[in-house]
Amino acid sequence: MGPPCGREAGGRRRRRRGRGQLESALALAAAGLMCTALAAYVCWEQLPPLPWTSPAPQQPVSVLLWWEPFRGRGADERPPPDCRLRFNISGCRLLTDRSAYGEAQAVLFHHRDLAKGPPDWPPPWSARGDAAEDVLEQAALATLGSRPPGQRWVWMNFESPSHSPGLRSLTGNLFNWTLSYRADSDVFVPYGYLYPRNHPSDQPPGLAPPLARKRGLVAWVVSHWDEHQARVRYYHQLSQHVPVDVFGQGGHGRPVPDSGLLHTVARYKFYLAFENSQHLDYITEKLWRNALLAGAVPVVLGPDRANYERFVPRGAFIHVDDFPSASALATYLLFLHRNPAAYRRYFHWRRSYAVHITSFWDEPWCRACQAVQTAGEQPKSIGNLAHWFER
Ligand SMILES: *[C@@H]1O[C@H](CO)[C@@H](O)[C@H](O)[C@H]1NC(C)=O
Ligand SMILES: *[C@@H]1O[C@H](CO)[C@@H](O)[C@H](O)[C@H]1NC(C)=O
Repeated sequence: MGPPCGREAGGRRRRRRGRGQLESALALAAAGLMCTALAAYVCWEQLPPLPWTSPAPQQPVSVLLWWEPFRGRGADERPPPDCRLRFNISGCRLLTDRSAYGEAQAVLFHHRDLAKGPPDWPPPWSARGDAAEDVLEQAALATLGSRPPGQRWVWMNFESPSHSPGLRSLTGNLFNWTLSYRADSDVFVPYGYLYPRNHPSDQPPGLAPPLARKRGLVAWVVSHWDEHQARVRYYHQLSQHVPVDVFGQGGHGRPVPDSGLLHTVARYKFYLAFENSQHLDYITEKLWRNALLAGAVPVVLGPDRANYERFVPRGAFIHVDDFPSASALATYLLFLHRNPAAYRRYFHWRRSYAVHITSFWDEPWCRACQAVQTAGEQPKSIGNLAHWFER
């Protein structure tokens, strides 16, 4: 699935080594780490285009959000976003009023809200209201999931399979589409992405935050501390060899200073973008926002390197799997600490790309509308949701 990076990357690596620029301590890095940023772009541009780069026909499409995620059901609602102003997607009618169910071309169900509380599905749909007098016909209409013709039910989830309870109860072709961070979703909405900097005004203004302002070495922000998680185990090993400043709540780490998370992290050279669980495409704001946007070099623990390289130039991050041990990683971080030129190479991507951070929940909602606009009529349903998502 990934881009055919190997050849270009290998060629550059050999040339580099021929120039004898690498210290012997960095032999471990020869495994692909020292690819130049240029090679990264060559690889990266071979990625399939993101789905929303295709022009959308401007037909009005109604998308009903069955529950507003993480908000009281019905209570405390914000007005829906204007998709044209926010994301340049015209022709969307976003609905929260359940009485408009019959008009919606798509209905969004947020998994977290599906899985908690009593079942709360749309009522069985009959195009003729209560006119179905035949008993058998009534029984057929009462089937869970009967819906207006052409309407799509969209399962929406941004948690990883490890934190998505109740998946297995959602069987039987209930949903037509998936919307998630998984690239093979019907509506792919990652937590963030890089986009080409076409205009000089696109952020970031500089190449990288000034090194002089980076007083700290390694930062980590963690909100849910769990000794069983791979990220906590790795932190314990790493912190024996290199100092790690931990911020967070819940008794572990110090509170994030009032200046805010981004300003705090920006003063460090490296950020531990460690995911809470390791799954295909599960790459969250820890990478996009806390590290890449803040301007600290991400040290990632999540899916494998090839998976990250589908979304980020290979020279923009350090993967824990690049090293045989946490102590070898620590050695490499300290090497970069002493060698500003080598360290700065991790920011080359900023010349060509800027970071987009996904806006929840406005953006998934508008992307669902856009997907309906471009989808055509082809019916589809998801036979075994858990099988697909947990694989
Ligand atoms: C907005 O979308 C239209 C049509 O899809 C496109 O032609 C235009 O360039 C877009 N504008 C921006 C600022 O991206
Ligand atoms: C949506 O799924 C239902 C149930 O599986 C199916 O009957 C219907 O044809 C699907 N509709 C579309 C537009 O895919």
